[in-house]
Amino acid sequence: MHKDIEKILFDRETIAKRVKELGEQVTKDYKDKDLVCICLLKGGVLFLTDLIKEIDLDLEIDFMDVSSYGGASTVSSGEVRILKDLDASVKDRDLLIVEDIIDTGITLSRVVELLKSRGARSIEIISFLNKPDRRKIDMDVKYVGYEIPDYFVVGYGLDFNEKYRNLPYVGYLKEELYR
Ligand code: IMP
Ligand code: MG
Repeated sequence: MHKDIEKILFDRETIAKRVKELGEQVTKDYKDKDLVCICLLKGGVLFLTDLIKEIDLDLEIDFMDVSSYGGASTVSSGEVRILKDLDASVKDRDLLIVEDIIDTGITLSRVVELLKSRGARSIEIISFLNKPDRRKIDMDVKYVGYEIPDYFVVGYGLDFNEKYRNLPYVGYLKEELYR
């Protein structure tokens, strides 16, 4: 275990098992659809690459990087800054947005609005982790790996100051690292 980690929440084997279940569910639900998995950078990358190997369908992947202006205080402005846009059109396609974690839901709600405006046929969300206690915007999240309490976690794509994304497990950071 990494020296900065206090406790492992989900280890490699647990994650693999859950991702397989999610992939099987998506496979059932998207049988007759035109699936595009849209990965939100950078956190969603590890989950995306594991997930698509468990989806037994033809699909495409695309990537998007967005940042919301200043977080909660800018809810009403409805602004999302696109740092990297999708490569392909999403018109009439069935989109599955792949996220590492949903916290306030602000970023994601804006991405959904944006993709709707581009004429997607359907839009659903799959997030490896969900912190429902922190939600500021009510979001319909179709697939969730795990619901977790409001503690900061890292690993499996999730970072603290861009570090720890490569850990093959999800864990709590040691408290002294926040001070
Ligand atoms: P929100 O839902 O718009 O508040 O933003 C969610 C984003 O916040 C995620 O994509 C993560 O990048 C980041 N985030 C939220 N909670 C955590 C956490 O516990 N660890 C690491 N990143 C987090
Ligand atoms: Mg993120």
